[in-house]
Amino acid sequence: MKTIEQLDVENKRVLLRLDLNVPIQKGKILDDTKIKKSLETILYLLNHQAKVMIFSHLGKIKSEEDKEKNSLKIVADRLSTLLDREVYFIPKTRGKEVEEAFLHHSLILLENTRFEDFPEKYESASDETLSRYWASLGELFINDAFGTTHRRHASNYGISKYLERGIGFLIKEEIEGLSPIIKEVKRPFCVIMGGAKVDDKIALIEELLKECDALFVGGGIGNTFLKASGYEIGSSLYSKDYVIKIKELLDRYGKKVCMPMDVLVKRNDEALVVSIKDVKKQDCIYDIGAHTIEMYSKSLKDAHTIFLNGTMGLYEEEAYRQGTLGLYQQLNEMKGKKIAGGGDAVASIKRLNMEKAFDFMSTGGGATLDYIVNKKLACFEEKL
Ligand code: 3PG
Repeated sequence: MKTIEQLDVENKRVLLRLDLNVPIQKGKILDDTKIKKSLETILYLLNHQAKVMIFSHLGKIKSEEDKEKNSLKIVADRLSTLLDREVYFIPKTRGKEVEEAFLHHSLILLENTRFEDFPEKYESASDETLSRYWASLGELFINDAFGTTHRRHASNYGISKYLERGIGFLIKEEIEGLSPIIKEVKRPFCVIMGGAKVDDKIALIEELLKECDALFVGGGIGNTFLKASGYEIGSSLYSKDYVIKIKELLDRYGKKVCMPMDVLVKRNDEALVVSIKDVKKQDCIYDIGAHTIEMYSKSLKDAHTIFLNGTMGLYEEEAYRQGTLGLYQQLNEMKGKKIAGGGDAVASIKRLNMEKAFDFMSTGGGATLDYIVNKKLACFEEKL
């Protein structure tokens, strides 16, 4: 696969796939890392007099209400501020305005590509007609959406079949940054996994367990492991559908798995740390406790490679961030290569000012996990 610098982009009409799927709450962008990480490729193209039409998804679209909540307009505005120039936003994914956009504008952002997932699933199913249609809009396709490389959708995989194509600077940087966990990983290789998004990741855990030397769990995933081990977890977040599967995995790989031994729970509106054996039906687990941090740190300290995905607790709230912060402080003292991946992990590291504890922070969550397991980015036919 060619990199953007190996392609002749001069004066071309370029279709650029980015991952602008940023966290948004109450009409505000909470973290614009992914937008900032896309600037280099956009600027390179514009500096080479290319005209650029950007494609991105935002959230998942399963209803009309999802469309109302997931317009990319807010992202177009932020991009325009960061670039200090007009980003022409088209609130559509096809039609005359889209087809004629290059006649009047040099930097365009189309509406959320996943609007093509409702009422019919076209984007996620990599529909041929849609892929060909989008490809017909430009002369060249650049994929720089690392966060979506584990998907084969029309806007990243479909389009690429019909145009000359290449990768942008972010994908190049990600491949380089992640190489310590992709190519001949130095062992012990430990994975720390947490966060609220449970289901997507759990499917990859079996493969990860085969690959790594030890797995440390927290957050919703940790709770699912605890539940599968027979512990009471009260009303805590966990992934019900995967408990049986996790039980099987514990039978096979139990020796590799480290689970919380104490947790911070909310009980009758009070936050208290209890041993995992003392969690009660009325409790809700929000963080790991100090003994767990100590135990995890002792086991992690000799690791040569550590990959972190997700957070140990509800770090957004001050009362529940000690586990996540404490673990990052411990990691900061460790010598191994430390790599973090995923929106939540990266947002928490930034929020807690712990960037110094990591050698590389990837913009991909599911994409990075998939890459570790399969050693290949699914949206490209070839190995990069
Ligand atoms: C992410 O945030 O991990 C990427 O943007 C991919 O999002 P998705 O899981 O909705 O495909």
